[in-house]
Amino acid sequence: MDAEELAARWRERLESWAIPEKILAQAQEDPWSHSPERFGTRTDRALAEPDDGPTMIRLAEALPDKGTVLDVGSGPGASSLPLRDRIGHLYAVDTSGAMLEGLTLRADKLGVPVTTFEGRWPDVADQAPVADVSISAHVVYNVPDLADFLRALDGHTRGRVVLELPHRHPMSWMTPLWQHFHGVGRPVRPIAEDCVALAAALGFAVQVEEREAPLERFTSLEELAASACRRVCLDPSRAEEVAETVVELGMWPVPRDRWVTVWWDKKPA
Ligand SMILES: C[S@@+](CC[C@H](N)C(=O)[O-])C[C@H]1O[C@@H](n2cnc3c(N)ncnc32)[C@H](O)[C@@H]1O
Repeated sequence: MDAEELAARWRERLESWAIPEKILAQAQEDPWSHSPERFGTRTDRALAEPDDGPTMIRLAEALPDKGTVLDVGSGPGASSLPLRDRIGHLYAVDTSGAMLEGLTLRADKLGVPVTTFEGRWPDVADQAPVADVSISAHVVYNVPDLADFLRALDGHTRGRVVLELPHRHPMSWMTPLWQHFHGVGRPVRPIAEDCVALAAALGFAVQVEEREAPLERFTSLEELAASACRRVCLDPSRAEEVAETVVELGMWPVPRDRWVTVWWDKKPA
């Protein structure tokens, strides 16, 4: 299959995750949105306990001392700021202004020079410079036009592109809750292999490493229930019922995901 066919498949498979209209209409909050607070906590943990997994290793080994980093879908910076002592300048792109505010606050405290670009990659790619290395962690399952996204990332990188993604869609763990509360199933694809196949078909010399996620998804059942109410389009007042259901269905504690690091070096011109 060529890159265009794989890209079309990726898009169709992501679209199959769309929430049925009549369920979406009941939602009190956007079930797809990412919480800046939750990702702020994740970033603070990543700064306090640096992760020595393949994503950080592959990024660090390709980053020249005081080199430039492009972080696309940066959130508050969990996947770039841990390299704070090595970064000459950080360029961060995110659709969410609140996420970028969190990143700027942390970068300023750490003394990391930063420029932010608020908007959707690759729509805002023209504004961003070419960096020594680029990272896009936990973003691709939000991206229907993955081929354009990856091409723009590659085009804005001199040395190495690094992606990190869970092996399966990040909402997959909630499939039994969708069945229980709404009587609907959830898809299985796309999975990380679909992203890898597309990157390879685009001509990138892709390498892949996989490991268990270094962090548990939730630190308490209450945290899980609050998040699940939003994601599964249930009124927040049902959090206790959700927590009980999670226990009854044997879903607690939630097993750790597999995280996949995908990376390639730019071919010398
Ligand atoms: C799950 S969070 C991951 C944040 C951070 N990279 C991390 O590893 O903790 C995904 C982030 O990507 C952003 N995002 C999603 N699609 C994007 C796109 N096409 N361009 C820019 N940002 C995007 C979201 O706003 C969110 O902040």
